[in-house]
Amino acid sequence: MPDRPALEFEAAWDVASAIPGWLTEDQARLLFDTARDLPAEPLLLEIGSHQGKSTVVLAAAARAHGGRVVAVDPFVDGRLFGGPSTRDKFERNVRAAELGDVVELLPEYSTRARPGWSRDLDYLYIDGKHDYWTLSDDLKWARHLPDGAPVLVHDCYSSIGVTLGVLAKVLPSRHLRYERRAGSLALFRVGRPSAVDRLRIVRELPWWLRNVAVKVLLRLRLRAVAARVFGHEGPYDPY
Ligand SMILES: C[S@@+](CC[C@H](N)C(=O)[O-])C[C@H]1O[C@@H](n2cnc3c(N)ncnc32)[C@H](O)[C@@H]1O
Repeated sequence: MPDRPALEFEAAWDVASAIPGWLTEDQARLLFDTARDLPAEPLLLEIGSHQGKSTVVLAAAARAHGGRVVAVDPFVDGRLFGGPSTRDKFERNVRAAELGDVVELLPEYSTRARPGWSRDLDYLYIDGKHDYWTLSDDLKWARHLPDGAPVLVHDCYSSIGVTLGVLAKVLPSRHLRYERRAGSLALFRVGRPSAVDRLRIVRELPWWLRNVAVKVLLRLRLRAVAARVFGHEGPYDPY
């Protein structure tokens, strides 16, 4: 029944697209489709939930086969992420989507929650703090996943910290192989990579450099140059 998940996705995206956040429809579809392929009663872990845009997509896919989503987010303060009021919005959005029974909130830094974690996981989505050290630590959650399980990394090829972390920890790794991406959302799977899998990560680097150049131009208020040279429209960083 190939159209059944597609219809489910449309319903989930109808709700999620109205929630502020950083996720394109293509990326939501990749999150949803990989979650929808999991075995029965999966446990998904999301790092970085913000107002729940990606959480709703993951939870809708998980619920379709009796799964649950653990959403890890300390709701950091600041202009970009909003602090405690963002937690209220997250809880409201998950409730409004009628997914409260599927989502378990862990209001903690991923790096603090990880050392004491003991539950098996089936799916890992990383979109928390985008620095090299946190990303490197977040990748260690993959030790709780079985062979073949998906590990998705947002801003994989649009953030300096995340990309350096992927180059240092994933490129030489014998436990994660690169599959594909939707924009800057990359899909890896637990498993031994081939030389070709590694090469495919390296081949994304020109695209990463392009995104870094766009970000520099936007910081310099050269939006028109970013549009003319790189075809990047709008005031927001590429993701
Ligand atoms: C880019 S936003 C996540 C966006 C969300 N996935 C969406 O679809 O809209 C990053 C989130 O990571 C959270 N965060 C920052 N540091 C974190 C950490 N160490 N562990 C978990 N979450 C963290 C922030 O509070 C923020 O809500």
